[in-house]
Amino acid sequence: MSEALRELTEVALVCTRCRLAETRTQVVFGVGDPAADLMFVGEAPGFNEDQQGEPFVGAAGQLLNRLLSEIGLSREDVYIANVIKCRPPGNRDPLPDEIDCCKGYLRAQIGLIDPNVVATLGNFATKLLLRTETGITRLRGRSYPWWQGRLLVPTYHPAAALRSPNSLIPEMQNDFQLISRALETPRVRPPAVEKASEQMNLFT
Ligand code: URA
Repeated sequence: MSEALRELTEVALVCTRCRLAETRTQVVFGVGDPAADLMFVGEAPGFNEDQQGEPFVGAAGQLLNRLLSEIGLSREDVYIANVIKCRPPGNRDPLPDEIDCCKGYLRAQIGLIDPNVVATLGNFATKLLLRTETGITRLRGRSYPWWQGRLLVPTYHPAAALRSPNSLIPEMQNDFQLISRALETPRVRPPAVEKASEQMNLFT
């Protein structure tokens, strides 16, 4: 892990920027290869993640592992993080001010891990990173040119797919094929001058 990512992790692990610090068991910062080509962004830690300190370790994580294995990848090959790093009480949706407090960590994580492909899982990650109010059902099924020449591939949240497996899992399998193809696509980085201005605008 790079020194900068280690430092960022240390800061995040003791974060008290929002109310979730009072109810979490621990901060769930991220897991996987810090130099991964592919990064997943989920929503928020649930009960199991809050207990274990690792994203996607419960039932949704099992499905994520299965979908990854179907494209020849494992958890160790990718990096996995969430929009917010602390569990909301009772697994309620993240609140807008909690996302605002936490999004700087995600932005820094993406910058330091520097994946070529970012896959967003569900509405919260997709809406934040694509800066849209359009829902996941309409956005999924294609990849989007994204920050600094990366490709962003939105798909359903695995927990949603577990609630409607017959309809959503096949669509997620299609999206994972898109992820696989995106990983084969050479990244075209924008010129440095554009890069700086894009960085300033990301998530604002
Ligand atoms: N759901 C998420 O969005 N993230 C996790 O880490 C676990 C479940």
